[in-house]
Amino acid sequence: MAKTYSEHKIKRFRSKIHGNGVSAIAPIRKGELIVEYKGTIITHEEADERYQGPETGHTFFFILNDDYVIDANRKGNVARWLNTSCDTNCEALVHEHPGKDRKKDQVIIEAKRAIKAGEELTYDYGIVIKRKLSKEEKAKWACHCGSPKCTGTMLRKSVPK
Ligand SMILES: C[S@@+](CC[C@H](N)C(=O)[O-])C[C@H]1O[C@@H](n2cnc3c(N)ncnc32)[C@H](O)[C@@H]1O
Ligand SMILES: [Zn+2]
Repeated sequence: MAKTYSEHKIKRFRSKIHGNGVSAIAPIRKGELIVEYKGTIITHEEADERYQGPETGHTFFFILNDDYVIDANRKGNVARWLNTSCDTNCEALVHEHPGKDRKKDQVIIEAKRAIKAGEELTYDYGIVIKRKLSKEEKAKWACHCGSPKCTGTMLRKSVPK
């Protein structure tokens, strides 16, 4: 059955957290499927090739599964503007396609709790960088979410379940 999204209840806006963000323009109920994270599906190897150079702390990549990454630089939609925070109101869940083609898996941003109109939408990026980072590199990943729960970094020690 086709999924129904609440994309009409969100819009891109100028965020206090960072650059562009996404806010609710109407109340969203807990559990609503808000928007699919779209982009070009590429392999991890292709992603590594495209992401060479110094650490920037800025990414439009989303790890879809062990085989593929979604590159929202290409054919991305409004979902690519969602920021992360240390007190999130959304989660990004991978919906596995019933068949064997892992390219058909989808990432869907869903409401973790009721969200009021005007609230910024955020989800945990769950970014884990296994190699040792320098102080300068860590600074690129500093979190500016402004929550009392802020850990100071967008990076996580392990991928959230
Ligand atoms: C998918 S983009 C989100 C859109 C971004 N705000 C923009 O205007 O391009 C992800 C990037 O936004 C920035 N960002 C997102 N959440 C942030 C946060 N809590 N603190 C600082 N920067 C953040 C980081 O540069 C991150 O790599
Ligand atoms: Zn934070």
